Amino acid sequence: MDELQRFVRRWERERKARVEAETLLEEKSRALYHEKEEQLALIERLKETQSQLALAKKLKQAQSKLVQSEKMASLGRMVAGFAHEINTPIGVAVGAASHGSDAVKQLFRLLEQDEVAEEELEDGLATIGQAAELTLSNLNRAAELIRSFKRTSVDQSSEKSRVFNFQELIQDVINSLHNTFKRTQIAFVIECPEQLNLDGAPGVYTQVLTNLIMNSFIHAFAQGTEAGNIGIRVHEPSGSKLALEYWDNGAGMDEETQDRIFEPFFTTNRGDGGSGLGLYICYNIVTTQLAGSITCNSTPGDGVRFYIEHEI
Ligand SMILES: Nc1ncnc2c1ncn2[C@@H]1O[C@H](COP(=O)(O)OP(=O)(O)OP(=O)(O)O)[C@@H](O)[C@H]1O
Ligand SMILES: [Mg+2]
Repeated sequence: MDELQRFVRRWERERKARVEAETLLEEKSRALYHEKEEQLALIERLKETQSQLALAKKLKQAQSKLVQSEKMASLGRMVAGFAHEINTPIGVAVGAASHGSDAVKQLFRLLEQDEVAEEELEDGLATIGQAAELTLSNLNRAAELIRSFKRTSVDQSSEKSRVFNFQELIQDVINSLHNTFKRTQIAFVIECPEQLNLDGAPGVYTQVLTNLIMNSFIHAFAQGTEAGNIGIRVHEPSGSKLALEYWDNGAGMDEETQDRIFEPFFTTNRGDGGSGLGLYICYNIVTTQLAGSITCNSTPGDGVRFYIEHEI
């Protein structure tokens, strides 16, 4: 009897232990199942993040390609403008030189005659003198254009550092855009210390100023059909800080536009060829290459004002 009781008790204990073990096993396998589900979800999320990262990388590449091609396009525009611009002084110089050469031939013919009136000689010489002067002044203008173009194009394509005069740089930029502005009623108001020489990459400023000026032409003055002023004011550097104010008194922009102007691809001019990269490029150049800041202030109908500041 004792033995039977012991057997039953042991059997009870073992059964209990078995049930406990089974419950534990069940719990464990349920937990394992959850863990597996969580891991699967994690893998899914990881995959998603990876593809988002790849997408972001692709987007960044596309953006930098666009920035690069925009740079090349602006260089192309400058070359075209320059070719057009230099045509006039060269054409006038060629005409004047050929006029002078005719006058010399005429003078030789006069000298072959037995008698020549002094007045005729004087007239001939005066014509030659005028032709020479006209040739010289136009060739000087062409040479100045070539120098300015050379500085600007090298600066824009190489981003090399050198010591440059800021006033001269502003003038070079305006020269390079002369063709765009010559038939408009837009005047430039430049205030810059004459002796401001900087050591840096001038192409950086060339590009920022060109973009800002072209924006004023297109957006502020309706493609140059409206009159107004564009101002560039460079303050005498205080300490090591350079401050530049760029302004126009054109159309200005509303707050909503103002909030988004530095975003890539933001443009109010999509239908008319705007890519919305101009100010994005300016922002990038100022904040990364110059380690500075650029901000904008504008009231609709009252123009824009950009402030650029950086350490020199
Ligand atoms: N001087 C300005 N006056 C009024 N609005 C301006 C001026 N400059 C910029 N904007 C506004 O800011 C927007 C963004 O300028 P951004 O230069 O980045 O692009 P975009 O000029 O439209 O195109 P892109 O420069 O690429 O050809 C413009 O579409 C315009 O609405
Ligand atoms: Mg623009």
